[in-house]
Amino acid sequence: MEKKKYYITTPIYYPSGNPHIGHCYTTVACDTIARFKRMQGFDVMFLTGTDEHGMKIEQKAKALGVTPKEYVDPIVENFKKLWDVMGISNDRFVRTTDDYHVKTVQTIFKKLYDKGYIYKGEYTGKYCTPCESFWTESQLDENGCCPDCHRPVIDAHEEAYFLKISDFADKIEKFLTETDYLRPKSRVNEMVNNFIKPGLEDLCVSRTSFTWGVPVSFDEKHVVYVWVDALANYISALGYENDAYDDFSKFWPADMHMTAKEIVRFHSIVWIIILMMLDLPLPKMLYGHGWINFNGQKMSKSIGNVIDPFVLAERYGSDAVRYQIMRDMPYGSDSNFSNEIMITRINSDLANDFGNLVSRTVAMADKYFGGTLPEERDYDQLDDELVEMASALRETVTPMIEEARLSNALEEIFKVVSRANKYIDETEPWKLGKDEASRPRLASVLYNLLETIRICSGLLFPFMPKTMPKVWEQIGAKPEEVEYNVLGEFGKLPANVTVHKGEVLFPRIDIEKEIDELNALLTPAKTIREDEDLDKANVIGIEQFAEVKLRTGEITACEKMPKAKKLLKLTVDDGRQGRQIVSGIAKWYTPEELVGKKIVFVANLAPRKLCGEESQGMILAADCGNEDIKVLFVDKDIPNGSPIG
Ligand code: MSP
Repeated sequence: MEKKKYYITTPIYYPSGNPHIGHCYTTVACDTIARFKRMQGFDVMFLTGTDEHGMKIEQKAKALGVTPKEYVDPIVENFKKLWDVMGISNDRFVRTTDDYHVKTVQTIFKKLYDKGYIYKGEYTGKYCTPCESFWTESQLDENGCCPDCHRPVIDAHEEAYFLKISDFADKIEKFLTETDYLRPKSRVNEMVNNFIKPGLEDLCVSRTSFTWGVPVSFDEKHVVYVWVDALANYISALGYENDAYDDFSKFWPADMHMTAKEIVRFHSIVWIIILMMLDLPLPKMLYGHGWINFNGQKMSKSIGNVIDPFVLAERYGSDAVRYQIMRDMPYGSDSNFSNEIMITRINSDLANDFGNLVSRTVAMADKYFGGTLPEERDYDQLDDELVEMASALRETVTPMIEEARLSNALEEIFKVVSRANKYIDETEPWKLGKDEASRPRLASVLYNLLETIRICSGLLFPFMPKTMPKVWEQIGAKPEEVEYNVLGEFGKLPANVTVHKGEVLFPRIDIEKEIDELNALLTPAKTIREDEDLDKANVIGIEQFAEVKLRTGEITACEKMPKAKKLLKLTVDDGRQGRQIVSGIAKWYTPEELVGKKIVFVANLAPRKLCGEESQGMILAADCGNEDIKVLFVDKDIPNGSPIG
């Protein structure tokens, strides 16, 4: 019989810097589901890759004096290396610079143009270079910055092609509200209320201000907008409109797209509309998960709070890292990462609960029976609850894994692990071992424990694929005894099973010592080198610098703004009539700390309204990395209004 198909995708990652632990979440979660579906007997296609075009990459490469391709190649290799280290079992890896992908993108663009869904116009608006996202004025945050990453945006005016997504507002709203495509459901409201209801504006889908992209085949000075280019990977990698593969009819539509929440917008609105325009079948599920945060902020390269997953995997093993990131990410919400959280999780769940259960059980079978259980048994009512829980586990976790409720699934598996540890305390095998007459009872207890371990480890395999085969070796389980179809039944190991003592699965970590060592290793990811590179790429002449008028001033009054938590309203004595400056520094300073201090401000910045208050300038502050901002205070003796230059 032909196998059922399952197609799952991660987003394709920007190779603009090395991968961090935040990138690992989606890939590991998809890997777990892909492995689980393979266990269930599905013919799985698991796709990941890299999204290599765009202005940001072009700029970085230019700064280093290399071509964009030369810039991305080693980073792409690093992503691939990381996936190897993390035990990722992707079937395919797509690069948007691959020829077949470029062909698909060009063909899709032309098809949409020929169908009248793409037209030429003029783009004016705001553009966030790091996010490669266009925004309208009204979408910017309270500081006039990118609503996603909160960095400054630039003005963009250029001839451009537009995708008529406005025509699809009703259709897309209906699709999102009437199907179960987008999960969790709360994200549907977010999409409808924030993007569809306010009016879906046509999307600018080409750029002329840089060249590192897929050229529009019929108008080569334009390159295709990086998001249209990127989204097409999900079908180019199957061979849609190219000759590299022939899997489109086999695997499309995707069963599961998974992304973090910030790009759900593209996957639930833009991607679906493009597919509707192309008359292609629509994917079945999009799970938008939360972020791994570090100190309360999204972990990302540019913020400089990156934890190196290579280091973590080397120190604890990739399975421990996989387990922690999946266990601590609640369904649909954010999770917080810290070295303490990771180590505590490894020690409590993996070393104490699971590792101990396996090693104690195997050690007792070895000690009391020389490794091979005798066949006589002695049942006790005490066994019932454990047997029942272990037998039901597969049915409990299957829908959870299929819906990407991975933390919940692990929680359920570990409930059974805990129950088994409690069962050891209740049955006291060490007492049974002292009495010859209790041997059948002792054999029953150990068999029940081995069976529980068999079921739990079978279901844990997709989460921790390197360690579970070691568990099977220790408990004497043959491959056919840990297949999905026998994990719902208790009693599959032979009665006279033989165990083999083995290595400690998850060594306990000395938390204090480890934290010190890890903190010392924390990578300030935005390296000075990179900053310098960007500076070199954005050189200005002295005339340009002279246009910026910097002056000193004294803060004479300061207050919080009720409607904007991040902002403070400062009254500044500028040696003239005085001015009001609104600044986003409320997180780092109280008004009391600022009054009486002298600062430097940009004196000739066009005034603008921030949350209803006019700001007549900008004060200078240093970004010290790791979310720390320090205002530049100057000497008390400098008169207010002194020019700086
Ligand atoms: N290139 C686009 C995606 C195009 S898909 C057609 C992109 N790339 S990215 O490298 O910036 O991020 C991709 C994905 O990485 C995010 O959606 C998310 O899946 C994952 N994550 C990056 N940082 C993360 C966290 N801190 N936490 C969890 N996931 C994170 O966007």
